[in-house]
Amino acid sequence: MPSKKELIQSAERAKERAYAPYSDFRVGAALLSSGRTYTGFNIENVSYSLSICAERVAAINAILDGAMEFEKIVIAANSKEFPYPCGACLQFLSEFAEDLDIILINGEGDKKSTTLKELFPKPFKVSELK
Ligand code: THU
Repeated sequence: MPSKKELIQSAERAKERAYAPYSDFRVGAALLSSGRTYTGFNIENVSYSLSICAERVAAINAILDGAMEFEKIVIAANSKEFPYPCGACLQFLSEFAEDLDIILINGEGDKKSTTLKELFPKPFKVSELK
């Protein structure tokens, strides 16, 4: 089981690999799922709206490996502000976690802890949808 320190290092390393030539807003995510670490970084596109966030890349990385119970995510960015995940990522993550510990790290290395429940208390859910 990776330690909190190792997860943070994984997110920081993923951030360095961000493909963000348009915004230069570099984001790395390290997701703990089924005891393993899955990383992702934002991948931009010249057709701007095709860009994808680091959190969803990390989530897809985990899902591809069959690790579908998310426990914790560290999100690191090169910004002054804390990199709160966008609404689309919150909804995406909530599919695979009732709740999730979230650690945010800004470009100065400051850390803030929060949870999915706190940021996104009412995800979209339809139990009878088929
Ligand atoms: N971005 C993320 O990676 N995660 C978020 O939660 C919000 C935004 C990325 C997408 C884009 O490459 C850049 O940040 C600027 O929006």
